[in-house]
Amino acid sequence: PEPGWSVSADVAVIGSGIAGLSTALRYVRYSADGRVVLVTKDRLSTGSTAYAQGGIAAAVAPGDDPVAHMVDTHLAGAGLSDPHAVHVLAAEGPDALRWLIGVGAEFDRDADGELSLTREGGHRTDRVAHAGGDATGAEIQRALVAAVLAEERIEVVEHALALDALRDPATGAVCGATLHVMGEGARDGVGAVLAPAVVLATGGTGQIFAATTNPPVSTGDGLALAVRAGARLRDMEFIQFHPTVLWLGPDARGRQPLVSEALRGEGAYLVDADGRRIMEGVHELADLAPRDVVARTIARTMAEQGTDHVHLEARHFGRATWEKRFPTILASCREHGIDPLAVPIPVAPAAHYASGGVEVDIDGRTGVPGLWAVGEAARTGVHGANRLASNSLLEGLVFADRIAARLAEKALPRPTAWKAADHVSSLADPGDSPRVRTLMSRGAGVLRTGEGLASLTEELGGLARPAVPVVPGVASWEATNLLTVARLVAAAALHRTESRGSHQRADHPGPRPEWRVRSVTVRLEGDTP
Ligand code: FAD
Ligand code: SIN
Repeated sequence: PEPGWSVSADVAVIGSGIAGLSTALRYVRYSADGRVVLVTKDRLSTGSTAYAQGGIAAAVAPGDDPVAHMVDTHLAGAGLSDPHAVHVLAAEGPDALRWLIGVGAEFDRDADGELSLTREGGHRTDRVAHAGGDATGAEIQRALVAAVLAEERIEVVEHALALDALRDPATGAVCGATLHVMGEGARDGVGAVLAPAVVLATGGTGQIFAATTNPPVSTGDGLALAVRAGARLRDMEFIQFHPTVLWLGPDARGRQPLVSEALRGEGAYLVDADGRRIMEGVHELADLAPRDVVARTIARTMAEQGTDHVHLEARHFGRATWEKRFPTILASCREHGIDPLAVPIPVAPAAHYASGGVEVDIDGRTGVPGLWAVGEAARTGVHGANRLASNSLLEGLVFADRIAARLAEKALPRPTAWKAADHVSSLADPGDSPRVRTLMSRGAGVLRTGEGLASLTEELGGLARPAVPVVPGVASWEATNLLTVARLVAAAALHRTESRGSHQRADHPGPRPEWRVRSVTVRLEGDTP
């Protein structure tokens, strides 16, 4: 569809989680007079960021050091993390956290006023700052939203789904995106945001699976937009499954409540149906092993014992610790009739985080001129085959700063003309989305096989050719994005014939050295990923 109205700025940011909000804020602070339009699919406060629990990692403790943070990040990444990107993340992390505090985010502190730091899986020291006990993301989102709303040079457009890139007819560079706005008065319907720089900050892809910690907006839209615009996606097979998601029964679908790894950081531990500790003897860090190790140990335990969940024992925390340190988790357990003071918490792995994404350089540029990516939507290389706990919020902050600094260095002319290109050619049927999710959870979950991935790829390909014509609209565009991303994850997972990090294949157990030096990049070719 052709845009009926447009809004323009020097920078267009798509998405309002930690990555998008920080990019917008940093940019207007670096630039003397540059203006930003920030568009977001739902409300400004919606996205994964607001749900973050455990915290944000940065080497700020007196005995800690960015080099130690780098080592832990590389060990978690199972040999695939990019050394330069990891260096930038760890070295710039402490300043990024201090910037966030300066913006107004209030973190938990000890009696001396120092930041309280906890530990999570894969960290060999306490370096995770948290807020409100286990409500870190909500506090970060609150502070960033307040700062953005106070900024005269940032214009916000809510309820606006960015669908496809627009191109400058003269240069071919990306110069904006089509927007589909719902319920915003004069700007209802199909419009466009125009800017010489478009920053994708659209978050993750959890909704391509049946059970996920991610909110409904995490449908991979930015990845689908980018790949249609000719950008490369990389490391898409490395979907991180969080080991401890509240188990709500075999039929639970959609967003599921998280039970933070920080509980294990404070001494909770995993047990099977017989009360046996399942992480002992598996890894030197036991219950605090990197997330991929814990998730697959749980998956194997469940397969061996013919069950669909295990338990997290945290009764010994006692009421005061539960109420002060983990109020969010306590409330969500109770909401579902579980009292963690009285019984161990039923948990199972669920899709949590996309370690891959749109391939970018160290300053957030994709391979397509004018198009940038940041946060969970981007693949900077820091996470490799498995993200270290609490490195995601940090990545969003650190790389947002780098993009903003580059964009502010040189003011580019605002677009005066555009052409619609790279748009969705065939639409998926929204009625098929539940099927896509079920197939993905079955075929591309914690434990995978070549056979399962091959049949998954074929079945998803069939769904890309719906039998009946599909009516264009927000629901079908989202369904199309979801199916596109699911197909790319399945294709990448089938292609990688080894087991590494969060990609585990029974038919190729163990890592293979040749896969350390190559990585799977995927792009759409006609109808086939
Ligand atoms: P998001 O916060 O997801 O924001 C994406 C934004 O893009 C949203 O505003 C969305 O509405 C918008 N959007 C999407 N598509 C479109 C579109 N087509 N058009 C316009 N707008 C669009 N990480 C940590 O480091 N520490 C933690 O403790 C932690 N805990 C977590 C707990 C949970 C339950 C979850 C789900 C994740 C957790 N993570 C944690 C991961 C981390 O929260 C996310 O990776 C991070 O917040 C992503 O930030 P983001 O800005 O990239 O994306
Ligand atoms: C958690 O609190 O367990 C999630 C932390 C993360 O995803 O980094």
